[in-house]
Amino acid sequence: MSELIKKTTPRVLRKEDQATDVVLSFEDWRALGIKTDTANLLVSGSKQSASLDPSNTVRPGSVLVSDKTRWVVNEQLSISIHEEPVKPEKGKTPSGSYGTSEFTDERVEKEFISEPLDDDPSLTELVECDGPAEVARSYFDYFSQSEEQKKNRRDKYGKLAPRPRDILLYGPPGTGKTHFAAAVRKECNQNDIKFLTVRVGSLKDSYVGNSEKIFNAIFDYAFAHTPCVIFFDEAEDLLYRPPVNRDGGGAVQRDLVNVYLTRIGGIDSNPDAMPLLIAATNTLPSQLDGAALRRYKAKFFVDFPGKTGRLGIINGLFKDHYGYDGINRETLAESTQGLSGSEIVTEIESYINDLMRQGRSTDEEEKVDERILNDRLTNLQKKDPEERKRFCDEAEKAQFLPASGQTWAIHKSEMSL
Ligand SMILES: Nc1ncnc2c1ncn2[C@@H]1O[C@H](COP(=O)(O)OP(=O)(O)OP(=O)(O)O)[C@@H](O)[C@H]1O
Ligand SMILES: [Mg+2]
Repeated sequence: MSELIKKTTPRVLRKEDQATDVVLSFEDWRALGIKTDTANLLVSGSKQSASLDPSNTVRPGSVLVSDKTRWVVNEQLSISIHEEPVKPEKGKTPSGSYGTSEFTDERVEKEFISEPLDDDPSLTELVECDGPAEVARSYFDYFSQSEEQKKNRRDKYGKLAPRPRDILLYGPPGTGKTHFAAAVRKECNQNDIKFLTVRVGSLKDSYVGNSEKIFNAIFDYAFAHTPCVIFFDEAEDLLYRPPVNRDGGGAVQRDLVNVYLTRIGGIDSNPDAMPLLIAATNTLPSQLDGAALRRYKAKFFVDFPGKTGRLGIINGLFKDHYGYDGINRETLAESTQGLSGSEIVTEIESYINDLMRQGRSTDEEEKVDERILNDRLTNLQKKDPEERKRFCDEAEKAQFLPASGQTWAIHKSEMSL
């Protein structure tokens, strides 16, 4: 990943009418110090060859790469100049990069590394999450290969040799996206791999005036500790660049998104230096930034659970505890149709809590009553099928795969509410 060496505004690029796109003129090209006549240009995530041709347009977030230098167009349509990777020493924040003494590795560790909890699931226990689990495993597999194995793969398959892919999870609330990340965190912990959790919204609130610095320090840390995982929870703040109001509202978020695009968005970025990114959101893809979405090569739709999924969640809750003997789990799986995983778990937990409280006050033995539990679950308000359909349709349009690994047709019919 590149390191920012100089932030400069050599000139504000010429704006074409009111459009946000700008044309790179010959003077602009030279003013930037670009000596070659062509360079690679990444506009909104797609690569094209840039030359002095006036048809080349750039916009905020566009990246130009030539030789060992890259130019990133920022919000004011001026340019930041970066130099090619200087891999920092392990455990050290590189000097001259964004990290400052204020935002040390220790601080990043303290504030963004979360330890696994006892009841975190393992990757194998996840329900209807085969696709993302497989991609996460392939990241760990990639780093368990020897240099020679990696080279052999590259010799054999060239550019198409399997590279780690970043994961985007999208779906309605309570469907297990954060739950999936908890399983990855557990796997990381067992393999001594760092796992950072970052909520971009809270970066804005907790580090007023410094959110860009801490965000850069997080990336510095991650690049210095690969293999490493960064989990962006509630990632809509990262995948959407709001327009900046007159009073500057939205500017902080745009700056953060720009930091993010700059730090992760390299053409041909070296896969060996990249952390695995996992982002989760329940915002509809049409409201997100297409360029940011495209960066995620593995995009999954995490839907309400199907019958097998619901049964899996119920079995996971009851496991082998004798207190649930005699309960027909299939029946519960039927009556929970239309509920999210979170709703199922919360309602069953709340029933068991009520039962224990009653048992304590009456001194009678608590016994799980399948009929009452079933009624409680059946009476919960089921999700509006139209709302779910909207999520499904958008996922299909934005080319998300169902996380379960099933095809859309089977998935849809099985899931019909
Ligand atoms: N597929 C699942 N398997 C097991 N438990 C689940 C599943 N989905 C949800 N749960 C339960 O519901 C809780 C809440 O789910 P989670 O926080 O992962 O949802 P989410 O998709 O991240 O929601 P949001 O979009 O609102 O952030 C989890 O802690 C877990 O107990
Ligand atoms: Mg969540």
